[in-house]
Amino acid sequence: QDSLYKEKNRPQFHFTSRRGWINDPNGLIFYEGEYHLFYQHNPYEKEWENMSWGHAVSKDMLHWNELPTALSPDKMGTMFSGSTVIDYDNTAGFNKGNTPAMIATYTVFSEEKQVQCMAYSLDKGRTWTKYSKNPLIDSKAKWNSSDTRDPRVFWYKPGNHWVLVLNERDGHSIYNSKNLKDWTFKSHVTSFWECPDLFELPIDGNKSKTKWVMYGASATYMVGSFDGEAFTPESGKHQFVTGTIYAAQTIANVPEADGRRIQIGWGRVSHPGMPFNGMMLMPTELTLKTTKEGIRLLSVPVKETDQLFTKINQWNSLSGKDADTKLAEYNRADCLRIKTTIKLSHATRAGLNLFGQHLIDYDLNSNLLNGTFYSPQDMTSMTITADIYIDRTSIEVFIDGGVYSYSMERKPDARNTEGFKFWGNTIEIKDLEIYNAKSIWN
Ligand code: FRU
Repeated sequence: QDSLYKEKNRPQFHFTSRRGWINDPNGLIFYEGEYHLFYQHNPYEKEWENMSWGHAVSKDMLHWNELPTALSPDKMGTMFSGSTVIDYDNTAGFNKGNTPAMIATYTVFSEEKQVQCMAYSLDKGRTWTKYSKNPLIDSKAKWNSSDTRDPRVFWYKPGNHWVLVLNERDGHSIYNSKNLKDWTFKSHVTSFWECPDLFELPIDGNKSKTKWVMYGASATYMVGSFDGEAFTPESGKHQFVTGTIYAAQTIANVPEADGRRIQIGWGRVSHPGMPFNGMMLMPTELTLKTTKEGIRLLSVPVKETDQLFTKINQWNSLSGKDADTKLAEYNRADCLRIKTTIKLSHATRAGLNLFGQHLIDYDLNSNLLNGTFYSPQDMTSMTITADIYIDRTSIEVFIDGGVYSYSMERKPDARNTEGFKFWGNTIEIKDLEIYNAKSIWN
């Protein structure tokens, strides 16, 4: 056990699997004090193949205990992405005594088609029984589309029925069911691709004013309303996270008293020389806020992550050059969190580099932040704040309290250029904070 998770390029505060390939998080659910992270997994090799559901559990979404593979390929095909629910009311009839079934709805992939199937577990996701009458949905005949996958299932309380959102044709379809087995097509929203999610959130924390969010794999979303059968967009399509993120999913069954909508995304980061490949990004809390552009989705690391970081230094009102000097001793740190607020002053373009890589590159003229449209929330003070998490192979950056965030691969070997370097004409570093990071593997 000791040598496990100790490799040189093993991320220290992000989940990676012991061995093999990972992609999408699947079936994220909180149940009986445990967070479950299932994930697209090749247990045997570092390439995308043999798709199975890997499995890990955690009490805090940070420290994960990897368990045996949950779902393995069968004669119908390989195990693609999906979701889980707890069937408290025994609607599917799999419960045993007082133990409600954890039910996974997932896609089975074969060269011929992609069909939706179910399996259930009565021992907290440790062992699974596949439903004998799979598949539940075979939409190839109906739409003649081979891209029908990634069912996201949840209970719609007002209508007393289940909802399934499915990637189909050119967007996301909505199905209804009473028993998780017989599904009826209800409606379709175009212009999304893969790994749907659909959830309700209060606006500005006001529980009596909510909107629904339709979500797609590349962190695109629309805000709108939902009546159990159809999602009606009330906004255009936005993207609030960019970079290595893909196929994020939110955690089901988080207790109402907690009330958070927590998301985990796949970080498309390659790990050459390591026995594993890919990673999960930090769990983040999603909220809807009224910004100056309208209602937007925000993402910040969940509060649990705070316990991993200890502040070791803080300075205020530095010139860019002075800030570089302060940061110099951390140039080669493998794991680090940096919080900073930059005042742009006369700069029209400013930012922060690490070994030539742009951690922040803000172009005020064209409102581009690392290449994506972004207009700072606070234009009067001309400041931009960034919370930057560096973890060996990756960097995650949360801007202005999560209004926009992005992630990138860290290039640990491109060290022939300068280390940390703030740049931009007469910028002021109003705040600079350095945090040590604790490993989750100890
Ligand atoms: C997204 C995805 C899903 C699919 C899975 C297969 O990354 O393509 O649509 O279910 O990966 O591994």
